[in-house]
Amino acid sequence: MKILVAFYSFEGNTKFIAETIAKELKADLLELKPTKEIKTKGFFKYPIGGAQVVFGFKPKLLPFEKNPEDYDVLFLGTPTWSLSYTPTMRSFLSQVKLSGKKIGLFCCRMGKKGKTFKIMKKKLKGNEIIGEIDFSQPLIKAKEDDAKTVRKWAKELGSKI
Ligand SMILES: Cc1cc2nc3c(=O)[nH]c(=O)nc-3n(C[C@H](O)[C@H](O)[C@H](O)COP(=O)(O)O)c2cc1C
Repeated sequence: MKILVAFYSFEGNTKFIAETIAKELKADLLELKPTKEIKTKGFFKYPIGGAQVVFGFKPKLLPFEKNPEDYDVLFLGTPTWSLSYTPTMRSFLSQVKLSGKKIGLFCCRMGKKGKTFKIMKKKLKGNEIIGEIDFSQPLIKAKEDDAKTVRKWAKELGSKI
């Protein structure tokens, strides 16, 4: 089984979870990046990123270093933005044609994840969702506990695929 962990992360939390899953399952990693990233990590990231979500913005992405369609199992991760998935994940899911894959979903949030997984699952019809898990800002809250939790989750899923 070829496994890919594909993720977008603006501030590193989702990247941390993605790297932990990839290490546990000896999977390949693919970091999704828009060609133009939001320039500020300060307060204005919220209205700028929030507006991108609300208006359905689909940023152009940098070329992928791996072809997601070549994999049998994918773990897809995104931060929650405005109670939804990120514009970068929206671009990814409309750009790649995934069907018949086994897919695990993960996200990082500050508070509520809202419709993050619901929308991703809608976009991923025709695939089997094998699990989902979310974390609240692991890098600044419970990094080691969250790493332990996600390793266990990935291991259990890995043993079933
Ligand atoms: C534009 C923007 C919108 C956000 N909206 C939400 C939200 O609706 N709900 C929430 O729980 N966290 C929200 N957050 C917080 C992030 O989901 C959270 O900090 C997450 O851990 C960031 O992941 P990252 O470090 O991989 O970028 C938002 C962050 C940004 C930048």
